[in-house]
Amino acid sequence: MIYLHLLTMKLFIDSANLHEIEAAASWGVVDGVTTNPTLMAKERATTSDLKKAVREICTLVKGPVSVEAMTDTCDLIVKEAQQIATWHHNVVVKIPCTTEGLRATKILSGQGIKTNVTLVFSPNQVLLAAKAGATFISPFVGRLDDSGEDGIKMIEEALCIIKNYDFKSQIIVASVRSPRTVACAALLGAHVATVPFKILEQMVQHPLTEKGIEKFQADWGEAQKK
Ligand code: E4P
Repeated sequence: MIYLHLLTMKLFIDSANLHEIEAAASWGVVDGVTTNPTLMAKERATTSDLKKAVREICTLVKGPVSVEAMTDTCDLIVKEAQQIATWHHNVVVKIPCTTEGLRATKILSGQGIKTNVTLVFSPNQVLLAAKAGATFISPFVGRLDDSGEDGIKMIEEALCIIKNYDFKSQIIVASVRSPRTVACAALLGAHVATVPFKILEQMVQHPLTEKGIEKFQADWGEAQKK
């Protein structure tokens, strides 16, 4: 089933690497960034000062930049999120889908702080995150597929729930492992896909494009000799 809505599909880059973010942003098709603690830790040489790193990312992409809260009780998540949200107006706070996380999401949404409920693996988690007022909800397609479930089916169900009740939350297709997942997300009408740099590169490429360029150049070169 295809769910049509008036928003255009957004593409985020799923990375904390400044070179990757800058390169992808230069293509003019990247609308935002998602990070997570693992991605941040991988770049520890440049992200030891998290706030500085996030602010730098915000200068590279003019759109939402998700940064994960690391605390796990409602009060602490709210305090941490309020702090993180002061770093830049484009920052979105990622909050894991737990009861404490949902409570925090509800409070933060009432304060106008943007949230991304993350580590989402079921339609019921989508429903709860949407009711809590999450700005974004991130089902993890690749990790569902890894565990023998159907990640794309889960996206279809998530979009159906959002549409049925006209929730304002946007679904981010996350944990993307192949270009095909992005195409499937677009065919389903997902609001956003967040894509690792390597897969963004693969999305551009097709062997027939390369072959076609070579032939056009060769034919044109031959014609110049005549
Ligand atoms: C994005 O928000 C997620 O943190 C990310 O897509 C997780 O991807 P992974 O399952 O490949 O770690």
